[in-house]
Amino acid sequence: MKVLIINGSPRRNGNTSELVKQFIKKIRDKADFEEFHIFEMDIKGCRNCGACQKDILKSHCTIDDDMRILYQKFLASDMIALASPIYMWQFTPCTLAFLNRLHCLCRSSDFAYNEMAGKKMAALITLGDEEEVADFAVNGLKDFCEFFSVDYKGDLRIPFADKDDISSGRYDVELKKFAERMMD
Ligand SMILES: Cc1cc2nc3c(=O)[nH]c(=O)nc-3n(C[C@H](O)[C@H](O)[C@H](O)COP(=O)(O)O)c2cc1C
Repeated sequence: MKVLIINGSPRRNGNTSELVKQFIKKIRDKADFEEFHIFEMDIKGCRNCGACQKDILKSHCTIDDDMRILYQKFLASDMIALASPIYMWQFTPCTLAFLNRLHCLCRSSDFAYNEMAGKKMAALITLGDEEEVADFAVNGLKDFCEFFSVDYKGDLRIPFADKDDISSGRYDVELKKFAERMMD
């Protein structure tokens, strides 16, 4: 299985990146994986130009930025692990920009051409408050998956996140279960 890890935290050494590190330990023997720190990449928001919807087979996103790399990676992956802290009840802006830009992979209003269909997606989330605070973001992601026929494989939320706590192995059992569920 090929796993694309989208790390939407601005902090390379923060809570979310530590959670991703621990997650990688659980999947590295079973999957090919690649991680991208998308805060450091050039990912613009969708500008609703409509160009990608013009021709079902030929059209694509016209924005020339680092999504060109991520589209290729996305299409070559079986599973996308979306890792993000919660900022104001939502995923970080770069994580949302990434999700918005996937829209061009589904062309035509009747979903006749949907390159997202059949992909699997799961979320690794850290937050400063209790885990219910991530409901808004997670519910949006679940809706996204349902709408675009992506198989939602669940989420792991770390409330009151603390990097040292995450690296201590405290979440080992949950991470193992999450990884197993994701890979089945
Ligand atoms: C701008 C900003 C907004 C935040 N908003 C929330 C929030 O709405 N709910 C919450 O529980 N934590 C919130 N937090 C806390 C972060 O989600 C939490 O500290 C997270 O683990 C940080 O991850 P990182 O170390 O990968 O940056 C916010 C943090 C920042 C910087």
